[in-house]
Amino acid sequence: MFNPNEIREQFPILSTQVYGKPLVYLDNAATTQKPRCVIDAISEAYCTINANVHRGVHHLSQVATEQFEEARRTVQNFINAPHSRQVIFTRGTTESINLVASSFGNSFLKEGDRVIISTMEHHSNIVPWQLLRDRIGIEIRVIPLLPDATLDVEAYRGLFNERTRLVSLTHVSNVLGCTNPVKECIDIAHSNGVPVLIDGAQSTPHTKVDVQALDADFFVFSGHKVYAPTGIGVLYGKEEWLEKMQPYHGGGEMIQTVRFEKTTYNELPYKFEAGTPDYVGAIALGKALEFVQQIGIENIARHERMLTQYTLERFAEIENMRIIGKPDGSAVSFLVGDIHPADLGTLLDRLGIAIRTGHHCAQPLIDHLGIPGTVRASFALYNTREEVDTLVEGIKRVARMFA
Ligand code: ALA
Repeated sequence: MFNPNEIREQFPILSTQVYGKPLVYLDNAATTQKPRCVIDAISEAYCTINANVHRGVHHLSQVATEQFEEARRTVQNFINAPHSRQVIFTRGTTESINLVASSFGNSFLKEGDRVIISTMEHHSNIVPWQLLRDRIGIEIRVIPLLPDATLDVEAYRGLFNERTRLVSLTHVSNVLGCTNPVKECIDIAHSNGVPVLIDGAQSTPHTKVDVQALDADFFVFSGHKVYAPTGIGVLYGKEEWLEKMQPYHGGGEMIQTVRFEKTTYNELPYKFEAGTPDYVGAIALGKALEFVQQIGIENIARHERMLTQYTLERFAEIENMRIIGKPDGSAVSFLVGDIHPADLGTLLDRLGIAIRTGHHCAQPLIDHLGIPGTVRASFALYNTREEVDTLVEGIKRVARMFA
């Protein structure tokens, strides 16, 4: 195991003071902080190798291209993709899902075809399908939840019909902090001949992802939630789909030949990477994933599960504490009595504690639960038990103010 206090020294922002108090950063499900090696990788790339990739015969362009493609292989290795050409760099989870909705939609979906999502999806896995519904008239069916806010897998089995073309499901809920039985859901979909997209935004930073073991058809995640910069993310896809899907954006680098009469497209992954890619972001993402691999994703997962367990134990001391859902990973959503989440969040902020409040971009889930929103504490490898203690004392203090 690693020592989180030693790890913290690698994250410059963690020594920040907020309102004169040490920062307690518990909003990692929104974005993680960056280690020095990632920050340095960005500045080093601009200081030493910056040139546009895949376009130059000159030295810098070749070195930049090598590092960019090396980063792609690091991602491939991190998620155990069969080949690096199945790793497409995007701006993040949102763009990856929009890419699939648009390209898979254009290539394989017709009016009346069905796409299955779940009640606990983030807006980024709802709205792209609604846009497609508006454009071509697909049908969206939603997997309901059981009373404990976990996925109703039996009801899911019943949602397939002969027009079902895709399932798009989150691996870990950003609100409930629960892990969905995605392998089982993928197997059920495949037994119906339906491919599956897994939204790994909240799982990739906290659990070992193996796209081949999952047999996911598409897997997407964001760099910034796994210690990498903002603006870089990944779409993994099986070649059988990616090869047949129309490009998402048109432009430079995604083409083989362009004539006014007709254009032919580049091979994978470049067919889906029009324009100058964020190669510096990709290089820094590669560094972030190497950083995670050095510590060990299983060690990180164990540490975060310990923090979640400790949080739940300590929360039991707080009167009128209500845990929302069944958290099993690195995020805990809660409400305290009638205190509005925004009030609790604002007052905790004055104590230096950064947590997220509100609907967490999952309004249908919050409506389903019949609550105004939640307060969410979410952990990363650098968080400590002492920070959980500070959170608990902070909540008790705010609760006393409202009593
Ligand atoms: N999706 C991110 C969150 O849950 C922003 O906070």
